[in-house]
Amino acid sequence: MSPFQQFLQRSKKVVPVIALPSLEVALPLVDALAAGGVTVVEITLRTDCALDAIALLTRERPQLVVGAGTVKNAQQLQAVLSAGARFIVCPGLDLRLVEAAQKVSVPILPGIMTPTELMQAENAGLDTVKLFPATLAGGVEFITAMQAVFPAMKFFPTGGISETTLQDFLNCGNVVCVGGSWLTPAKLLQQQDWIKIREIAARCP
Ligand code: 3PG
Repeated sequence: MSPFQQFLQRSKKVVPVIALPSLEVALPLVDALAAGGVTVVEITLRTDCALDAIALLTRERPQLVVGAGTVKNAQQLQAVLSAGARFIVCPGLDLRLVEAAQKVSVPILPGIMTPTELMQAENAGLDTVKLFPATLAGGVEFITAMQAVFPAMKFFPTGGISETTLQDFLNCGNVVCVGGSWLTPAKLLQQQDWIKIREIAARCP
């Protein structure tokens, strides 16, 4: 089992893709998610407080697995590794970033949406990739079609997935978890509605 799959052992098979509006919501948010059984989280570099949040969460909640998302270049990769990110998620495939993460033995999940990118990922030694944007890329049908050709490759689909479609993805034997922003809607983050966020996490399979 790959290190990323090991992270998921003690969590529900859903990973919130989080755009944190402010540092102060980081701890109550992950506590609400953890209370609902979700203990692997992706903090995306889409907001100013993301790096500080990764460092804070890694320090204050060592029992959770905090990864970094929307990592697009070497500088960002170094910054999130310094902040303590336990895994890296990229929107696309950049083999230089893959190699840099592999050098320090941190799992990296690049986004792919074609067989060509899957070949590159496989030949780079990866066993798990993000399918992004999953729904646009063909969703469950794409993942199922790839299984015959890339039987060892596992998928972490994100992009356009909702509470109503997530089970279809999880039913695929080659899907290790599904991700998305539906777990932490911007409106609930803004309202700091930790009860509703805990409930969404708790409803996940
Ligand atoms: C991602 O970065 O994985 C996606 O932006 C999440 O997609 P969603 O907002 O459609 O869930």
